[in-house]
Amino acid sequence: MTGATALRDPASFGPVDLDESALESWAAEVGRAAIRAGRFVCLSGPLGAGKSTFVRAACRAAGVEGAIPSPTFTLVNRHRTTSGEIIWHADLYRLESPELLVDVGWPELVDSDAAVFVEWAERAEDWLPADRWEVRLDFADRPNERRVEIRASGAGEPPPAPTVDPC
Ligand SMILES: Nc1ncnc2c1ncn2[C@@H]1O[C@H](COP(=O)(O)OP(=O)(O)O)[C@@H](O)[C@H]1O
Ligand SMILES: [Mg+2]
Repeated sequence: MTGATALRDPASFGPVDLDESALESWAAEVGRAAIRAGRFVCLSGPLGAGKSTFVRAACRAAGVEGAIPSPTFTLVNRHRTTSGEIIWHADLYRLESPELLVDVGWPELVDSDAAVFVEWAERAEDWLPADRWEVRLDFADRPNERRVEIRASGAGEPPPAPTVDPC
């Protein structure tokens, strides 16, 4: 067919390359939207891609004060914003098997109306909720940038799109 317009999935944005401040601004927007809508946000990508950087920026923008330590050994941390909302931050890097998720209170996260951010979410395999936002972060050509994509899976509002800062 000639002249066909490619149909874009309205709930999928990227890939685009963002420097650290652009990535943090976008993460802040995603964080605020995730709190508003009680979304479950999955983050995937290699070590050093910026998953923790993203979650910290999202938590800060949502009003989490003080230290935001990585849940490296606890696997799940719970934060409270200055206005009293809960934000869950999980990091499943050290999860040995999805069956062990129940030991870290995973069912509560999946059923929660709060915002949930999960690094290495793919390690939860079938234990992820159907309705979620999936953020993919990867290295880019420039060392100070990361290639980012986001898509919605299941029902619910679409996620904020990443935008490149105008030069
Ligand atoms: N464009 C960028 N976006 C996010 N992080 C970046 C970027 N450029 C450099 N970095 C750096 O990359 C590192 C990302 O680390 P981190 O967020 O802990 O990654 P992960 O949690 O994916 O392992 C941080 O040191 C951060 O300062
Ligand atoms: Mg991390």
